[in-house]
Amino acid sequence: MATNQQKLDAIKTSILSDNVCPELALTATQLVFGDGNPEADLVFIGEAPGKKEDIEGKPFVGSSGKLLSEMLESIGLNRQDVYITNIVKYRPPNNRDPLPDEKQAFLPYLQAQLDIIKPALVVTLGRHSLNCFLPELVISQVHGQPKRYKGRVYLPLFHPAAALYNGSMRQTLMEDFARIPAIIESIK
Ligand code: URA
Repeated sequence: MATNQQKLDAIKTSILSDNVCPELALTATQLVFGDGNPEADLVFIGEAPGKKEDIEGKPFVGSSGKLLSEMLESIGLNRQDVYITNIVKYRPPNNRDPLPDEKQAFLPYLQAQLDIIKPALVVTLGRHSLNCFLPELVISQVHGQPKRYKGRVYLPLFHPAAALYNGSMRQTLMEDFARIPAIIESIK
């Protein structure tokens, strides 16, 4: 039986062989697939890699990632306990927002990652990530509230990048984040 890591590696290989978003692939340094524990209870999904992620080949290793790591520590976890990925897996030029077609093109691969890992809770970071799964919801109205949909539980959170320079959003993000352990407990 293949391990979850082997199954995830196969998804990564198929993104390359299927030639997903060839224009993005041309301008990006590399595919940024995902990082962390392939058996995690908790999966975090951001938008797309930024400059540092593009260079290092890992999601959330820049300033947003530093805040994410700090928040994980505040609930007694580190990056190796969780799995972290993005909707779009190549850096968009100049960090522009991912386009609808790009999000759509990567969605089946993201769904496949979740089907392999089977986390108790999927934390969406920012509106792009939330609206990929739950297009009707507005992040400012539902952040911090777990949502059950088609056999999965999602927790919408603000994106750490938005909270970096906005004190009140940062406070809200930390408060929402602090609820994660209790939410996981209530699901399991
Ligand atoms: N922002 C994201 O959405 N993803 C990353 O990997 C880094 C920053």
